[in-house]
Amino acid sequence: MLRSQLAGAMPIRRPVIRSLATYVPPRQLTNADLEKLVDTSDEWIMQRTGIRTRHIVDPGVATSDLAKEAALEAIRRAGLTPHDIDLIIVGTVTPDMLFPSTACLVQHKIGATRAWGFDLSAACSAFTYALTVGSQMVAAGAATHVLVIGADVMSSIIDYTDRTTCVLFGDGAGAVVLGVSEDPTLGILDFEHQVDGSGGPALCMPAGGSLRPASHETVDQRLHYARQDGQAVFKFAVRNTGDICERILARNHVTADELDLFVSHQANRRIIMSAAERIGMPEEKVVINIEEFGNTTAATIPLALNTAVETGRLKKGNLVLLASVGAGFTVGSVLLRWAID
Ligand code: UT7
Repeated sequence: MLRSQLAGAMPIRRPVIRSLATYVPPRQLTNADLEKLVDTSDEWIMQRTGIRTRHIVDPGVATSDLAKEAALEAIRRAGLTPHDIDLIIVGTVTPDMLFPSTACLVQHKIGATRAWGFDLSAACSAFTYALTVGSQMVAAGAATHVLVIGADVMSSIIDYTDRTTCVLFGDGAGAVVLGVSEDPTLGILDFEHQVDGSGGPALCMPAGGSLRPASHETVDQRLHYARQDGQAVFKFAVRNTGDICERILARNHVTADELDLFVSHQANRRIIMSAAERIGMPEEKVVINIEEFGNTTAATIPLALNTAVETGRLKKGNLVLLASVGAGFTVGSVLLRWAID
């Protein structure tokens, strides 16, 4: 039986996205700026990735600061106050510090006095995973209002002397408030996730954890920055984004024609379009905003949803497929019917 049908056996408590808000820092780092830092060109970056610029924090601005801005606006748009939030889940690979969790820092900064919370580490799949965990808490009746945040300050772990990674990433945050849907046909319908830990070395930050604590050597060897085997990640992402989309669509008997929008993690325009072609989604139903934001890791999907809303491409009742692939490897997909007017 499908997960989306299981609710039919009991009183339906359909989780739904009640509101969405995003925040990016104002400062931009353009391809022209990067040409001055490393041996690269606007032409190469645009052709291979689709990125033209990305937003970068000023020194002293942390993930919780971006998350706070998105969270407060999402709560306001939901017609709630921070006091109404039961649970805060922050998806991030760039927490302000290893502990306390960024969820605790956000809870304090926004004054969500009744909430508990935790961070969720799934790299670029953090938003799809956090959405799933939060929505299952709502479905189970364990929470009524869940604040799900995807936020990363990637510039804090990027080596701006390494042209293979520094052109790709940006900083940003997105937040949604989950609640119980008044109309059970609208909301989070199903999810499908998977991890393949054999891909760990292909995209990681080698030092700073328990295996290789920070030392003079780890700093000298630049091991506190993100390292990536771009081609290995690219091949995995192309194959697995398509696979997971096909699986969740087949299980729900949904064809590409019935989908209104495909919102993928934004790592590379070519990865998104190859997955879209594989499932038969025409370009006009695919959201791509990587040109302006780059890869913001946990924030890409809410940023892309926001772009779709702002450009009038996402409306109440639309059937939407979210998909992500990230370090781990982590793979995720969520099928939902948009409920916001
Ligand atoms: O969100 C997390 C998941 N991450 C991803 O999904 C990223 C997946 N990977 C990719 O998107 C692509 O592999 C990259 C955009 C990272 C690289 O594109 P590519 O087409 O796979 O390039 P490549 O790594 O095969 O490199 C081709 C050439 C190399 O030069 P040679 O060996 O052919 O002389 C690179 O050294 O391009 C060179 N190169 C660059 N040239 C100019 C690599 N980075 C740059 C650069 N500017 N920034």
